Amino acid sequence: MSDAESTLITGIGELVSNDGEPSGGQPDSSQPGSFAAMTDAALVIAGGKVAWTGPASRAPAADTVVDVAGRAVLPGFADSHAHLVFAGERSAEFAARMAGRPYRAGGILGTVEATRAAPDSALRANLRRLAAEMLRQGTTTFECKSGYGLTVPDEARGLALAAEITPEVTYLGAHVVPPEFAADPAGYVDLVCGPMLDACAPAARWVDVFCEDGAFGADEAAAVLAAGQAAGLHARVHANQLGPGPGVRVAAEAGAASADHCTFLTDDDVDALASTPVVATLLPGVEFSCRQPFPQARRLLDAGAVVALATDCNPGSSFTSSMPFCIALAVREMGMTTEEAVWAATAGGARALRRTDIGHLGVGARADLILLDAPSHTYLAYRPGVPQIAAVWQAGNLVAGTTVNNAA
Ligand code: NIG
Ligand code: FE
Repeated sequence: MSDAESTLITGIGELVSNDGEPSGGQPDSSQPGSFAAMTDAALVIAGGKVAWTGPASRAPAADTVVDVAGRAVLPGFADSHAHLVFAGERSAEFAARMAGRPYRAGGILGTVEATRAAPDSALRANLRRLAAEMLRQGTTTFECKSGYGLTVPDEARGLALAAEITPEVTYLGAHVVPPEFAADPAGYVDLVCGPMLDACAPAARWVDVFCEDGAFGADEAAAVLAAGQAAGLHARVHANQLGPGPGVRVAAEAGAASADHCTFLTDDDVDALASTPVVATLLPGVEFSCRQPFPQARRLLDAGAVVALATDCNPGSSFTSSMPFCIALAVREMGMTTEEAVWAATAGGARALRRTDIGHLGVGARADLILLDAPSHTYLAYRPGVPQIAAVWQAGNLVAGTTVNNAA
């Protein structure tokens, strides 16, 4: 479709727009609104953006008309947490965990070794395969971290590869301390905050740190975030994944966009998330794949925190690229309603990425949308594991699937 052409999508059984009245959890009116859905709706795309939404009976004329025969249309998913630049795989580690061994993040170094040894072409092919897999499952925006290179050139090339296909690129030099710095972790933090940051900042938008026992402590994490921010990056944090700890507090003090994982939270952590704009990004694929207790989404939502859902797609703790799977887990295992889970996977992810152009289908939003092979968003959790993404548009272009109704 050229930019001058308009497309009318009509016959929408349920249009999820996320342009409802802002509520307690969404205090900033420049952000996507609360969950909102309309039945018997239509939507017009023009110039790559949403130009009109409303009842199908009042839809304006357009150059092209697509009748989706009662199926649901949603904003594309915004997956705000993924580690896609890596080589190798760790299925044996997963099988061992399922046989009773706990996840202790030790396998990260195996992926670091494989990633360092891989040529650019192999890393690029794997990254693009996963990005294509995400797109087919409705993810129209994804964040991608470095963190499996852990040398200056290896981190820089990971970010350069990610920047080829997404603007949401995150510098995670502070993933773990690599073996060559085992005796000098302070020296590694200096490298991450100095020469490695200098080499990486130009390709990145975000700086992240794994703040956890066995990775980086509160002071080290704060130093990494401060250095990144001084270089123009915005902060996000891996926080409170494996046990209680300072991650959420560090994220709040740094003014981070998001604290991710949030699996083990104290009341103070919940208060910090509820009383600051830090988004609590929950990653239920991790708890599924590591057989841990799921994060307490209900506790966060009831306290007034903004919650996002993301996949954390990586070869160790969560090798899923599927936002529908995460939605189903959030509804079944974390006490989220279907509306809350879909909001968290769309508008919540946008909030975690500080994006106002995605995550909703209000007029003026980027026309990133999903057609479900189902009449409502509820089916994402109601029919877990079933491929239901019929078609995906990015900036108004049909990029995956088909609008043909196979059931008709
Ligand atoms: O988000 N927590 C640290 N990093 C990843 C795990 C990476 C890995 O196991 O390779 C995570 O779970
Ligand atoms: Fe992660």
